[in-house]
Amino acid sequence: MAKKIRAAVIGVGIGKYHIEGYQSHPLAEVVAVCDVREDALHDTASKYRIPNAFTDYRKMLKTPGIDAVSVCVPNKLHMPITVDCLKAGLHVLCEKPLARTAAEGQKMVEAAKAAKRLLMVQFNNRFRPESQLLKQYVDEGLLGDIYFARCGWIRRNGIPGWGSWFTNKEMAGGGPLIDLAVHMLDLTMWLMGNPEPVVVLASAYQKFGHKMECLGPWGTPNPKGVYDVEDMAVAMIKFANGATIALEASWASRCKREWVYSTLMGDKAGASLERVFEVDGVDDTAVDTLEVYLQRFGQPVNEQLIFPADPAMGRLTAVRHFVDCILTGKQPICPGTDGLRIMKILDAAYKSAKTGNAVRIA
Ligand SMILES: NC(=O)c1ccc[n+]([C@@H]2O[C@H](COP(=O)([O-])OP(=O)(O)OC[C@H]3O[C@@H](n4cnc5c(N)ncnc54)[C@H](O)[C@@H]3O)[C@@H](O)[C@H]2O)c1
Repeated sequence: MAKKIRAAVIGVGIGKYHIEGYQSHPLAEVVAVCDVREDALHDTASKYRIPNAFTDYRKMLKTPGIDAVSVCVPNKLHMPITVDCLKAGLHVLCEKPLARTAAEGQKMVEAAKAAKRLLMVQFNNRFRPESQLLKQYVDEGLLGDIYFARCGWIRRNGIPGWGSWFTNKEMAGGGPLIDLAVHMLDLTMWLMGNPEPVVVLASAYQKFGHKMECLGPWGTPNPKGVYDVEDMAVAMIKFANGATIALEASWASRCKREWVYSTLMGDKAGASLERVFEVDGVDDTAVDTLEVYLQRFGQPVNEQLIFPADPAMGRLTAVRHFVDCILTGKQPICPGTDGLRIMKILDAAYKSAKTGNAVRIA
C-alpha cells in the first residue's frame, strides 16, 4: 500500500472540515493539530483521535514526518504561518483569502516556489458538485465566450462575531469583500478561465456594523473589540480579454435575504448558480439551483440541472484534492497564484473605494 500523507491542521474553527477531509481520504491521516485555545484544541484532538496536540505551531513543525498542513487561522496569520510551514518543507493548504493583501500573498507564492512545495488555497466553492458540473458546460464550449458575469454573496443580518478578528481590519484585511465575496469572485473567474484583471472600480460602505446592528450567528462576539471594516461593497472588474464582472458583497444590508450567486453571460448561453437562504446563515434553509439559459428555434429555453447535494460545500472534496495533488505531484486546481490574482483585485477594490478612482492592476 502507498505511503499515507501525514497531515497537520492549525486552527480548529473551520479547520474541523480540514480534519474531516483528510480523515475521509484513504491515503491520508491527521497526525497533529494546533490551536492557541487549549480547551478547543484538546476537545478536537480527542474527538478526532489525533495523537499530537500543540499550542505553538513552531513546536509542531519540529515533529518529524509531517508532510502537509492546513492553515485555518485568522487572515493576518496566513502569511507568516504559511511561510514558516513551507520553509519547514511542508505542503500547505491555506484557507481563503490567501492573505490580507497581495504583498503578503506574493511572499507566500515565492516561499512555495523556493521550497518546491505545493501551496493551495481553500476555494471550496469550486469543488461543489454544481460548480464542477457548470465548469464542464463551460469547458465543452456550451456557453461560448463568457463576456460578462454578475456574482456575489450578500447577507441581510450576517455580521460574524462583532468585535472579533472578523470585524478588525488589522486582523482580517477587510469585511465581506475579503470574507465572502472572495469565494464567488474566485468561482466566477475560474469558470471564465481565470482572465487577467486590469482595472477595478469599487465602493465600500459601513452603515450598520458600527451601530452593532445586523449581527449574524457566527463567531464569538467581543463587545470590547472594534468594527472598522465595510459591511457592504460593490465592484466592477474589467479583464484583459474584454470581459467584465460586477461583484457584490454584504454582511449587512436591507436586502431580501442571504443570496450567493454567480451568473454567467456567454454568446451561446447563460448560466446561473444560486444559493438562496430562507434564514441568513442557516444552511438547512438554503436552496441550491443551477440553470442554463439557451435559445433554441428562436425561442428561449431554460435547463434546470440536477446535482447531488453536498452539505460540506465542497470543503472535504477540496482537501482530498490537495492530498491527491501531493501524491501525484500535480498542481492543485486552485494554486496560490490564483489566490494572489484575487488579492490584487481586492487590493485595487479597497483602494478604489477609498480614493473614488478606478484602479489599474499592474
Ligand atoms: N472556506 C470556508 O468556507 C471558510 C469558512 C469560514 C472561515 N474560513 C477561513 O478560515 C480561517 C479561520 O476562520 P474561522 O471561521 O475558523 O475562525 P475562528 O476564529 O472560528 O477559528 C480560528 C482558530 O484559529 C486559532 N488561532 C488563532 N491564532 C492561532 C495561532 N497563532 N496558532 C494556532 N491557532 C490559532 C483560534 O484560536 C481559533 O480556534 C479564516 O481565514 C477564514 O476566512 C473559511
